[in-house]
Amino acid sequence: MIDHATVQKILDAARIEEVVGDFVSLRRRGVNLIGLCPFHNEKTPSFTVSPAKNICHCFGCGKGGSPVNFIMEHESLSYADALRYLAKKYGIEIVEKEMSKEELDKRTERENMFALNSFALKYFTDTLNNTEEGQTIGMAYFRERGFRDDTIKKFQLGYCPDRFEAVSVPAIKAGFSKKTIIDTGLCTENQKGGLTDRFRGRVMFPVHTVSGQIVAFGGRVLKKTENTGKYVNSPESEIYHKSNELYGLYFAKNAIQRADVCYLVEGYTDVISMHQSGVENVVASSGTSLTTGQIRLIHRFTSNIIVLYDGDAAGIKASIRGIDMLLDEGMNVKVVLLPDGEDPDSFARGMDSTAFSAYIDSHKTDFISFKTTLLLSEAGNDPIKRATLIGDIVDSIAVIADSIQRAIYIKECAVKFNMREEVLVQEVEKRRKNRQSEQPAPSMEAVKQAVDTATGRPFCFKEERQLIRYIIRYGHDLININSNGQIVQISVLDYIYGSLEADGASLLYPIHIQILEESLSVDGNLKSHFLNHPDIEIQNYTFSLAEDRYERSCLYNTEESDDEKTERLSQQVQTVMFEYRFALIKDKCTKLKQEIKDATASGDNTLVDQLLVDLQNANMQRKQISEVLGNRPK
Ligand code: CTP
Ligand code: MN
Repeated sequence: MIDHATVQKILDAARIEEVVGDFVSLRRRGVNLIGLCPFHNEKTPSFTVSPAKNICHCFGCGKGGSPVNFIMEHESLSYADALRYLAKKYGIEIVEKEMSKEELDKRTERENMFALNSFALKYFTDTLNNTEEGQTIGMAYFRERGFRDDTIKKFQLGYCPDRFEAVSVPAIKAGFSKKTIIDTGLCTENQKGGLTDRFRGRVMFPVHTVSGQIVAFGGRVLKKTENTGKYVNSPESEIYHKSNELYGLYFAKNAIQRADVCYLVEGYTDVISMHQSGVENVVASSGTSLTTGQIRLIHRFTSNIIVLYDGDAAGIKASIRGIDMLLDEGMNVKVVLLPDGEDPDSFARGMDSTAFSAYIDSHKTDFISFKTTLLLSEAGNDPIKRATLIGDIVDSIAVIADSIQRAIYIKECAVKFNMREEVLVQEVEKRRKNRQSEQPAPSMEAVKQAVDTATGRPFCFKEERQLIRYIIRYGHDLININSNGQIVQISVLDYIYGSLEADGASLLYPIHIQILEESLSVDGNLKSHFLNHPDIEIQNYTFSLAEDRYERSCLYNTEESDDEKTERLSQQVQTVMFEYRFALIKDKCTKLKQEIKDATASGDNTLVDQLLVDLQNANMQRKQISEVLGNRPK
C-alpha cells in the first residue's frame, strides 16, 4: 500500500507528454501534441496530448485521461500498480507496507502473475551474479559469447539452476500460489502433483512489454543435445500473448523514434549484440513470422523498417509473406542481406554503430526489388516459373497503399522482367479491384452523413464533378506522373483514387462517391458501364458529363501522336486534381477564420493560438497549390 503523501508526489511528477511519449510517437500541433492512438487502429493521428491540462484524449475512440488513467488503460493495471509504474519512471521511492494475507488474496490473478515474474527475474539475475553455479556456468557462457557486464545488466539476463525445484520453492515461500506459478509457465505440474522447473539449467532472457513489465522468459540451453530444443519459452498466458510482443521493443523504442527506423531481426542474441555495438533501434520477431499486432506495435514509433537477413538464410522465402503484411500496414520496407555465414549477432560483434550503419546504408534495397531479384535468380529461364513469379511480385505491389510508390515499383519491375509497363499496371489494378471487393462497401447511411455534416452549400461540386468526369471517360487510360524526377505510369482512376486517399480527402456528393467506388470494380469500358447503369439517375448524370460545359480543351485532335495525347491527358488530370485540392484548402481557410473569430469572442486564447497556427499552415498550402496551378498549361 502506498501512503497518501507519496501518491501526491507521484501525481505531481507525472507529465502526460512524457508518460504517453513512452508509447506513442508524438509531434507538436499548436499548443498540443498529437500521435496515433494506441487504443484503436488508425492511420491518421487523432490522439491529442495537452501538456497544459496534463491530460490526453483520443478524438477517434474517446479514451484517455490523466497520466494514471492512461497507464491503467494502456497497461491494464490497477490504480495502485499504475502509481507504482509512475513512481518507478520518476525515481520516486515507495515504502510499501508488508501485505497481509488478505491483501495478497485480493490482488487479481494478473497482478499476481506480474508480481511473480518480477520475483523470478530477481531470482534469476541474483543466481547468475551471486552464486557459484551462476558464475561458473551461466556467466561463463555469456562471457564466451562476448556479452559485456553492462549488456547483461541492461537486458536483465539471468540463470536458472539445474534443479527440479529451483524457482518453485522460494516462490511458494514468498507467498505465490501453485496456480500462479503454473499459470506463468515458470513450472509445470509433475505426475506427483508437485512443481517442476521449466527452465532448469538454462540462461535466461526476460521478455519485456513495451512498458518494461516482464511477461515471459526465454531460456537457452548451454550445450546442444539431441532431445531438447535450443530455447524453451514461457507459454501463452493471461499476461503473455506472443503475437502481441516484440523482443527488445522496450529497450529500442526511444532509439526507433529518434532514428525513425526500426531494424527487424530474428533472435534474442541478435538484438543484444546489436545493442552492445551501439545500434539500439532493433527488435526481434523471436523466430516466428510477424503478426499484424506486432507490426502495429512498431508502427506506433516509425513507418520505416529494415529487415536483416542472414547471408545463408533458408528462411528468407518463408518470411516474405510477413513482409507483404508490413507493406499492407503502410510500412516502408527495406531489406539487407548480410555477408555469407553471418547473422546479425555475429555481424554486429566487434563493429561500432558507425561501421554498422555504413554497411546498412550501402547495402539496403527496397523489398520489392529484393524479392524480384531473389525469385528471378531462382526461376532462371523457366517460363512457367517466371510467370508465377511475376504474379507473386504483382501481389506484393498491389498491397502498397501509395499509388505513386506502386507506379515506381511497376516501372522497376518492367525493366527487370523486360516487360511492358502497361501490362504490369493492368495486373496490379486487377488485384486491387479484387481486394477492394473483399472490403465492405460503405453503407448508404455513412454516405448520407458525409453530406449532412457538410456546409450544405454546393461546395466543391464543380471540382468533384471534374474528377468524376475524367474517371468515367479515361479511368483506365494510363498517364505519366513525375515523382521526384522519375516518370511513372499510372491509370487515371488509380491516380485520382490514390491522391484522395493520400490527402485523407473523401468526396461529398453521394452520386460521385458511388461512381468512384463502383469504378474500382469495373473491368470493361467505364463510360459504357455507367451509360447503361440500372440506376437511371447515374445514367443521366453520365450522359450530362459527356456534354460537359466545364470541359477543358478537347482531347480529340487528329494531328496529335499517341504520346502527345497521353502527355496532354496527364497534364489535365493533374490540373483537375490540384483544382480540387485548391477548393478544399480555400474552404478550410474560410472555416478557420470563422473559428478564430468565434474563439476570440469567447476569450479562449489557447484555442485561438492553435487555430492561428493551423491557419498559417493552411495558407501556406494554399499558396503552394496556387503556384502549381499558375504554372500549369491551361
Ligand atoms: N527460437 C525458439 N526456439 C527454438 C529456436 C529458436 O524460440 N528452439 C526463437 C528464439 O526467440 C530465438 C529465435 O527464435 O532467439 C531465433 O533463433 P536462432 O537464430 O536459432 O537463435 P539465436 O537467438 O540466434 O540464438 P543463438 O545465437 O544462441 O543460437
Ligand atoms: Mn544466433
